[in-house]
Amino acid sequence: MNSTIEFFGGQASLYDAYQRNCVPRYGEAVSVAAGWLDRLLIPKRGARIIDLGCGTGNTTEELVRLFPDGIITCVDGSREMIAVARTKLENREMEFHCRDLTEPGWNEPLLHEPVDAVVSVFVLEHLPFDAYRKVLADILNLMKPGGRLVTVEGFSGDTCQEIYFEEMALWEQRAVQSGIVTREQLDDVKRLSSEKEVHYFAAVDDKKAWWAEAGLTDVDLIWYYYCIGVLVGRKPL
Ligand SMILES: C[S@@+](CC[C@H](N)C(=O)[O-])C[C@H]1O[C@@H](n2cnc3c(N)ncnc32)[C@H](O)[C@@H]1O
Repeated sequence: MNSTIEFFGGQASLYDAYQRNCVPRYGEAVSVAAGWLDRLLIPKRGARIIDLGCGTGNTTEELVRLFPDGIITCVDGSREMIAVARTKLENREMEFHCRDLTEPGWNEPLLHEPVDAVVSVFVLEHLPFDAYRKVLADILNLMKPGGRLVTVEGFSGDTCQEIYFEEMALWEQRAVQSGIVTREQLDDVKRLSSEKEVHYFAAVDDKKAWWAEAGLTDVDLIWYYYCIGVLVGRKPL
């Protein structure tokens, strides 16, 4: 199995506490991404949306709140992360698909019903660059003409990453001090992350160029904080 997916599977029960309290501006990035869709998707009623790399369902919950009549489908490579999402969203009928985005044909079960939007938060940065570009094409195949893509991703940049990770260390320290996570849990996450979690960070301009090459229009970075940002684009009509 892909080692990044394995890493998240092992962290599923701790993920929310870590992500919400130790990853600077995670919640804000999710709100900006989902809020952008909320403003642009018309009609909102019955909008079909895929949460790609749904994890434990944090972004999905925000989509459910903003699109109460939406048809939301979740995809993730980790059964354990999906299991947490299912429990969190048990009152809401929705499909979950366990798929590794680097495997050919991952999107086949979803092709029968084109969607209005695809949202993907902190997922695509785990794909090697060739797989990233392939997945962009796969996403376009899932969308209706005019469909919207919004992602939250980490980007390259030495100084920006240094500052962001320094801030993350402060957030982690605070989370330990306030008892949200234990020092042992944090050390475990850090050790397993360095052993298994792989990131592929590219520059914002490179990713924008890949989106345009894939055929997306109106590609823009609508929010940025040091080295994380919200990228948006549209499938032509
Ligand atoms: C940082 S979490 C983000 C989860 C969620 N989007 C959120 O906002 O909290 C990254 C997620 O991407 C998934 N993932 C990473 N690489 C993947 C791949 N190749 N195929 C499918 N899922 C993948 C992991 O299993 C994990 O749930």
